[in-house]
Amino acid sequence: MTKTADVTALRASRTHCVQALYDTWSPVFVQCAGTTHQTVLLPVGVTPQATNLEMVRRAGFGGAQRLLDAGCGVCGPACDAANAVPGLRVDAVTLSPVQAELAKQVIERQRLTDRVCVHVADYHQLPFADQTFDALWLLESACYSPRPAQLLGELARVAAVGATLYIKDLFLAGGDFGPQAVRDLQRLRHLWALPRLWPLARWIRWVERAGWQVCDASVLQGANTDWYTGAMIEFGANGLQWNDFGRQFAVHTPAAPIEWCQLVARRSGPARRAGR
Ligand SMILES: C[S@@+](CC[C@H](N)C(=O)[O-])C[C@H]1O[C@@H](n2cnc3c(N)ncnc32)[C@H](O)[C@@H]1O
Repeated sequence: MTKTADVTALRASRTHCVQALYDTWSPVFVQCAGTTHQTVLLPVGVTPQATNLEMVRRAGFGGAQRLLDAGCGVCGPACDAANAVPGLRVDAVTLSPVQAELAKQVIERQRLTDRVCVHVADYHQLPFADQTFDALWLLESACYSPRPAQLLGELARVAAVGATLYIKDLFLAGGDFGPQAVRDLQRLRHLWALPRLWPLARWIRWVERAGWQVCDASVLQGANTDWYTGAMIEFGANGLQWNDFGRQFAVHTPAAPIEWCQLVARRSGPARRAGR
């Protein structure tokens, strides 16, 4: 095989793993956790919806904008945003056809079919024209990109000048890692089919090179996993026990060197050449 064929095959298998993970487990996520699939919530209330609305506020979405939700899950956050902002239209993108089918049900139940539309696509190659969107968000989905510079360039392509980008995600924390930290990080990546993680500082450079102006990049103070952990537990005959979600995903990785952050940026002008 040539080197190019090698890279293409590796990319395809990575994409396939992520798609298979979400195709297999999304029905269980919906059953156990509802329609927002995020590991951490902000300290603004106990429900995922409260966090989604706070992120709408922090991103400053409003009015008759077009929002791209890249890595949308089953569209819980997209519907919360559309309900909160009259006139907002959302295009939501996921790799998983199963998620897209579940998302259609969520959108129909919330009577948002005229304003929220889900697509199966890879966010590195979006099926939208240049400068389509005024607002873009990636909620715990940017971490799945094995090629962040390409992702940010593609987001810049479909963003109108002045558009807002909001990313909430986990990033590699700084410092020297011991063997336990390395092991926990590997377990976390394996469990969630994640590629290599990068520090927030590295993402800031990629964001700026792609033609975005960074407005805020900060650690999410008070972000917590209470909802996520609670979604893994049920009452059984013998009291509290793991449910289907917990049996598969309740893995303890306390030493994993990660931090939860938000990054807000504005599309400032033509993209510079993507690259590291
Ligand atoms: C942890 S879930 C987050 C879902 C959603 N943002 C939410 O808050 O409920 C990660 C999502 O990223 C999506 N994803 C991962 N890689 C992707 C890619 N290359 N293109 C499009 N979506 C992707 C997955 O399909 C999944 O929907």
